[in-house]
Amino acid sequence: MGDQVRIVEVGPRDGLQNEKAPVSADARIAFIEDLVKAGLHTIEVGSFVSPKAIPQMANSDQVLRAVDRHPGVEFHVLVPNEKGYEAAKAAGAKVIAVFASASEGFSKANINCSVAESIERFVPVIERARTDGIKVRGYVSCVLGCPYDGEVKPSAVVAVTKKLWDLGCYEVSLGDTIGVGTPAKARALLRAVAGEVPMTNLAMHFHDTYGQALANLYAGLEEGVRVIDSAAGGLGGCPYAPGATGNVATEDVVYMLEGMGIATGVDMTQLVAATNGIAAVLSKPPVSRVASALNARRK
Ligand code: HMG
Ligand code: MG
Repeated sequence: MGDQVRIVEVGPRDGLQNEKAPVSADARIAFIEDLVKAGLHTIEVGSFVSPKAIPQMANSDQVLRAVDRHPGVEFHVLVPNEKGYEAAKAAGAKVIAVFASASEGFSKANINCSVAESIERFVPVIERARTDGIKVRGYVSCVLGCPYDGEVKPSAVVAVTKKLWDLGCYEVSLGDTIGVGTPAKARALLRAVAGEVPMTNLAMHFHDTYGQALANLYAGLEEGVRVIDSAAGGLGGCPYAPGATGNVATEDVVYMLEGMGIATGVDMTQLVAATNGIAAVLSKPPVSRVASALNARRK
């Protein structure tokens, strides 16, 4: 496994969207700048969704405009429909992410429509993005379980992933939104999805609710996946995924990868500084084990 892995840092979006205390646009911008300094080159910085649904992601246009000045760094934003697309494009987005669910219950709660309706909404978004030269990433949520529907069949994940891939997403990120997966299940799922979409075009987006995320990622790396979504400090969650905790922590992922001889290009000291910065804004310590260990050693 001595090759490269791309980390998609989702802390400024997934990490902050579920925080109760408001985080200013300036604090979000400072967090993203710190992440760039740490060497992260793919960063999800916001979403163009209803501010009534996700108040923390209001002003994502301001955030994107402010940070989008680093050559070689790709800034992603979430877009649920054409209205969001218009706003993202106006703010200069070069990469957007559309997000569907493998389960009907979460689709309804999260974006207020069925899975099929969500795909219909994405068709014109993806078409317009292609015309405008904007890249589109896809997400499939609840790939290893749904907070509303319970068990999710791999065949449902395969179907939605294939739809997004066929529509033109360059990569599809598979989200264990509520962090219930285990390595054997993650492995079986990836094998099933790879029957329709190349493993090299899949990403793993695992929340760590049950403490399995690193183990699941390791299983996925063994299967050949080379893109990992993670959040600095282990921030994260979704208001429509009750009980779910944060994303796997970027520090923990970097520590594991470097330990496997896989270079990430991330400077751990700078990354922990970014995490500590946002932790101070949120007034709570990071849940990342590696960040905690390094902070304790520094003291
Ligand atoms: P809706 O109510 O069905 O939409 O919401 P609507 O078209 O009926 O519009 C209702 C209101 O929303 C209107 O405003 C629209 O203008 C406005 P009003 O007239 O009431 O004042 N609206 C918008 N405003 C801003 N930007 C837009 C937009 N669209 C409509 N793009 C909608 C549908 C999708 C908008 C809503 O349900 C929503 O915003 N949901 C939030 C979804 C979200 O951001 N969830 C968290 C991210 S997903 C996630 O975390 C999972 C992931 O991490 C992977 C994983 O872990 O699995 C990606
Ligand atoms: Mg997520």
